[in-house]
Amino acid sequence: MRQSSLVVVANRLPIDDSVAPDGACEWRRSPGGLVSALLPLLRHTPATWVGWAGGTGPAPALPDVDGVRMHTVPLTADDLRDHYEGFANATLWPLYHDSVEQPEYHRSWWEAYQRVNQRFAEATADVAEPGAVVWVQDYHLQLVPGLLRELRPDLRIGFFLHVPFPPPELFMQLPRRAELLRGMLGADLIGFQRSQAAHNFAQLVAKVLDVPATDRRIAVDDRVVRIGAFPVSIDTAEMAALAARPDVADRAARLRHDLGSPEQVILSVDRMDYTKGIEQRLKAYSELIAHGHVKVRDTVLVQVAVPSRERVGQYQILRERVEREVGRINGEFGRVGEPAIHYLTQPFDRAELAALYRVADVMAVTPLRDGMNLVAKEYVAARVDDTGALLLSEFAGAAAELPQAYLVNPHDLEGLKQGLLAALRAGPDDLGARMRAMRAHLHRHDIRAWARSYLSALDDSGSLLTRLGAA
Ligand code: ADP
Ligand code: G6P
Repeated sequence: MRQSSLVVVANRLPIDDSVAPDGACEWRRSPGGLVSALLPLLRHTPATWVGWAGGTGPAPALPDVDGVRMHTVPLTADDLRDHYEGFANATLWPLYHDSVEQPEYHRSWWEAYQRVNQRFAEATADVAEPGAVVWVQDYHLQLVPGLLRELRPDLRIGFFLHVPFPPPELFMQLPRRAELLRGMLGADLIGFQRSQAAHNFAQLVAKVLDVPATDRRIAVDDRVVRIGAFPVSIDTAEMAALAARPDVADRAARLRHDLGSPEQVILSVDRMDYTKGIEQRLKAYSELIAHGHVKVRDTVLVQVAVPSRERVGQYQILRERVEREVGRINGEFGRVGEPAIHYLTQPFDRAELAALYRVADVMAVTPLRDGMNLVAKEYVAARVDDTGALLLSEFAGAAAELPQAYLVNPHDLEGLKQGLLAALRAGPDDLGARMRAMRAHLHRHDIRAWARSYLSALDDSGSLLTRLGAA
């Protein structure tokens, strides 16, 4: 077994097993923010990525991706149902996102969660060189740091949570709360998106495990576990370069023409997830049309919503409701050849996404709760001419870094409508000043700066940073 000195462990590998229209098996980039953040970072680094390739049955052998070795962990159909769709995405995901949907608790899901975490820990132990740095990602794998430390006490172990970590009132609902906290404490460094999350974690450790904890350090057994906020970001320069490409500019012009050359384009790009506030946004937009504040001929909405976690009941219900609402709004307010909403459920390549960002006069990113939201950052990075307005939910992690956005509370329908109108009506000087400030922030705080701050805290020797080219 080939071993690496840097091992990233995430439920998802960066490529996904999918079937082409002709029935052949092809690999394509996996969905979601975790992969968007880590893939550009690791490119050409001699690292191994341990994860799941998206199907069930024996683990497929995958090619390297941009020089990064893929090490596949297999999931059975039961694991998929009880670990991925169950404990990860129907217990932890809703609970960690303010319980915007009701979390479900089942004992068999917990058993699957333990079993799959054990399998990931064993796979990681196999591919980590002596003394390697292992970086475990996200809520699917919260037990891995503790399990891995038992198997391989020589490793330096980091854990990063991409989603929010909830306040004690919510986390206390979890039947196996102590085990989950203990699992995370197997790490040397636990990173969160926001300092509030680190604070929540410290409070819970003190309350549930009776271990003294501050928002920075927790002494457990004979070790010190450090905790802190490390807001994740994007490859800002790469997105800016992509958006500035002449073919992307041409594509953006073509898209505007195909949309009927409206005066203004509003864009939203989400995974189809109930945390993203899609229904609230559609309602706000349709009320603005109904009350005459917005005219469909002048202003169109492009809603990209890629289906996600499609076998989980709450996601199926959401998709039906969104599609019914899009149909209703287009039926009521559209005309032949002039829909009010252009609704797309396809995955796009990066150049097409960049063209969409370039065409959007207003980018509406209004989740009910979101750990960070990289779409908001990608939009800003793509606005190379300092135009455009970002409408952003206060409940996205990104809001703490981008106060120049039009900030809204998506639960407040009137506030959401006012925010959207303000963004649509803003003058170029105001927009330019806001966008320049946001772009400057993202150029300083890009994905490499994130890795630099996290990995220098995890590995104080600095050797890892040099290898990543992030120093
Ligand atoms: P989440 O991690 O919850 O999915 P983020 O906004 O942080 O939300 O990240 C979503 C990522 O997925 C972004 O990098 C975005 O560009 C990408 N993405 C979203 N929709 C699509 C799509 N239709 N095609 C390709 N990539 C997409
Ligand atoms: C969010 C999570 C990631 C996850 C992604 C896509 O970004 O934080 O861990 O990979 O959503 O979700 P999926 O269920 O398709 O992996």
